[in-house]
Amino acid sequence: LSKIGVLTSGGDAPGMNPCIRAVVRTAIYHKLGVVGVKQGYQGLIDNDMYEMTTRSVSNILDFGGTILKTARCADFRTDEGMEIAYRNLKAKGIDALVVIGGDGTFTGALRFSKKYPDIAVIGVPGTIDNDLGGTDYTLGFDTATNTVVEALDKIRDTADAHDRLFFIEVMGRDSGCIALRAGISAGAEAIMLPEKETAITELVESLKAGEHNKKSSSIVIVAEGDKHGGAYDVAQIVKEQIKIYDVKVTILGHLQRGGSPSAFDRILGSRLGFAAVNALIAGETQKMVGLRGNSVALTSLEEALKVHEFKLEDDLMQMMEILSI
Ligand code: F6P
Repeated sequence: LSKIGVLTSGGDAPGMNPCIRAVVRTAIYHKLGVVGVKQGYQGLIDNDMYEMTTRSVSNILDFGGTILKTARCADFRTDEGMEIAYRNLKAKGIDALVVIGGDGTFTGALRFSKKYPDIAVIGVPGTIDNDLGGTDYTLGFDTATNTVVEALDKIRDTADAHDRLFFIEVMGRDSGCIALRAGISAGAEAIMLPEKETAITELVESLKAGEHNKKSSSIVIVAEGDKHGGAYDVAQIVKEQIKIYDVKVTILGHLQRGGSPSAFDRILGSRLGFAAVNALIAGETQKMVGLRGNSVALTSLEEALKVHEFKLEDDLMQMMEILSI
């Protein structure tokens, strides 16, 4: 092992910068070269890479986004694209990659490293969705959840002032992890998850019961992967069946991806970046470094992609109905 390339790919997530910093400094500490690849796999194909030093990552712990930029790269899905990337890596003397991203990133990494096994690859789970196996948390999930909670608290103020019913759409693709945890944190009256279908009739009954119990406002969280469509669709269906509330819809959108990483995500990013370089030094490849319990653990990229543990704990699922009565 002599030189490591590091890249961020797919949707950005708060905590990526602390992770890049840890990769760069751990590599340099071990006298390894480290090259920053711009815009994910696109930078490998376009040869957009630069040698990094300890100072390349100064004062970035608190930055959202990623200093290396990111992209979803279609060219890297082709054999031709991968071959160009491989040649560019070899020409720079890079013999290992740390890829920080979600399932699209890992799928690309696995295909590439099976085709070119002389480039070792370690993945770091970086996505706000928290939808990978082999890790309890992905980078960015904690910050995004806190961002959603902050938004929900603000909406509660105005919902309460006007006695309104709000439908709030949150991100997570086909995972309800952000929805569930943010909903419990902000006392949502109902949470609609992709993993467990909510019957509209039951939702309407519980909203009516809330009104009966003298609730002045209600917040329903709709995870973007919910089967009924988006928050506007759900609001429309409910509106036709319940007349007691003035109904409003808010889609939180990409603000959920930005912002300074929480302390949790800074520590997780540092820990996983450090572990990724140590795994490469130990000769590992085609693995993901994750957090299980309170320990760093290695999982094969296949397992990380296959096991969609959605981390919807039973007690949280029960509480979501009971604590909002
Ligand atoms: O995977 C992260 C995520 O923010 C998802 O929650 C969301 O579905 C998707 O990315 C949005 O993708 P884009 O930023 O390309 O619109």
